[in-house]
Amino acid sequence: MPPKLELIAAACENMGIGINGDLPWRLKTEMAYFTYMTINTEHKNKRNVVLMGRRTWECIPKKYRPLKDRINMVLTSQSLDYGDDAITCKSIPHALDIISGMQNEVERIWVIGGSSLYKSAMESSYFGRLYLTRIKKKFECDTFFPSIPNDLVLIDDPTVPQGIQEEKGIKFVYEVYERR
Ligand SMILES: NC(=O)c1ccc[n+]([C@@H]2O[C@H](COP(=O)([O-])OP(=O)(O)OC[C@H]3O[C@@H](n4cnc5c(N)ncnc54)[C@H](OP(=O)(O)O)[C@@H]3O)[C@@H](O)[C@H]2O)c1
Repeated sequence: MPPKLELIAAACENMGIGINGDLPWRLKTEMAYFTYMTINTEHKNKRNVVLMGRRTWECIPKKYRPLKDRINMVLTSQSLDYGDDAITCKSIPHALDIISGMQNEVERIWVIGGSSLYKSAMESSYFGRLYLTRIKKKFECDTFFPSIPNDLVLIDDPTVPQGIQEEKGIKFVYEVYERR
């Protein structure tokens, strides 16, 4: 069995996550949190997968692509070939199938967006956790986090920074959800 899906997202007060193929904000500490969470492994000989939709892949600036020290996987219905940079897959089950074949290499599977991928992952029986940064401000957005199913509940996770964080006068909180 592959590891459960762990979602990581940052959403503002109106649940926006993106605009014009970019993030609506620049928060260095939040980005560093994303990088740490998605790279860090307990076993030093394993790596984490970052699973994303094709548009999210394209939104990553070329100089940061593929996301370093992680196995990059991109969901697309097209026949795209990213060479050694990323593995393409046709669906979440297809991605899990591929990951099952490299289980000794993979510690965690991080679903890093966008909207439809978050939705399918939260509804999937493979859902494990949602790591959601709540940004306490409204931003103009054209892409939104889907509604969170009622059976997901907030849990305490001492591994994430606790309490209200602040950068450039913008407050945000790291939340973690599991299925009840
Ligand atoms: N704030 C955050 O945490 C966060 C995180 C991620 C992204 N974002 C932002 O969100 C925006 C991009 O997200 P998005 O929702 O527009 O796009 P997206 O989900 O990243 O990409 C959509 C594409 O992914 C492929 N796809 C998605 N689900 C699939 C499935 N089940 N099977 C096969 N292919 C699938 C399809 O590609 P094809 O068309 O090639 O078939 C689809 O057109 C950007 O603005 C980005 O900056 C924000």
